[in-house]
Amino acid sequence: MHVDGTEKKWVILSFLMAFAMMGILTAYAINYNIRPPSNVETVDSNALHLTKEFAEDNLGLKVLADGTVTVTMVAARYGFYPQNLKVPSDTSIKFRLASADVLHGVHTAGTNMNTMVVPGYVSELTTTFPHVGKFPMFCNEYCGLGHDYMWSRLIVVPKDQFTLPAPQGGAQ
Ligand code: CUA
Repeated sequence: MHVDGTEKKWVILSFLMAFAMMGILTAYAINYNIRPPSNVETVDSNALHLTKEFAEDNLGLKVLADGTVTVTMVAARYGFYPQNLKVPSDTSIKFRLASADVLHGVHTAGTNMNTMVVPGYVSELTTTFPHVGKFPMFCNEYCGLGHDYMWSRLIVVPKDQFTLPAPQGGAQ
């Protein structure tokens, strides 16, 4: 089979470009610890209010029996609940989010918190907020007409001015 010289050059060039881009993505993923969410815990999005963890009264910040600082949140058209969330700075915090309806995303501006909230699954991420201040938490997946208004407020308080609640007994 005869392949024209110019064509051959472009075939090689396009392969090189694809490999270079793959290399850049891999390098970024490794250096910045970027990876797909790996939590495959399922939850019934239609019955969040009936679960112990995602019932309205149990949302927000708590300390589990093993000392893990955990924040449980529900994303629902059009808001994140709780709508005001106070957390201590420089503390490892595990977020557990569930959607009550459709696909949402949560992105906390000025921090590295960014994940999708897929209905039927619990989204989990652990992060630390080194900067004190108020940060908006936006929904970053189009979820309907009110998407633009879907946000909550994250307030990061200096660690020494924050009193953590007493650890909860029993497993969550
Ligand atoms: Cu929720 Cu967009």
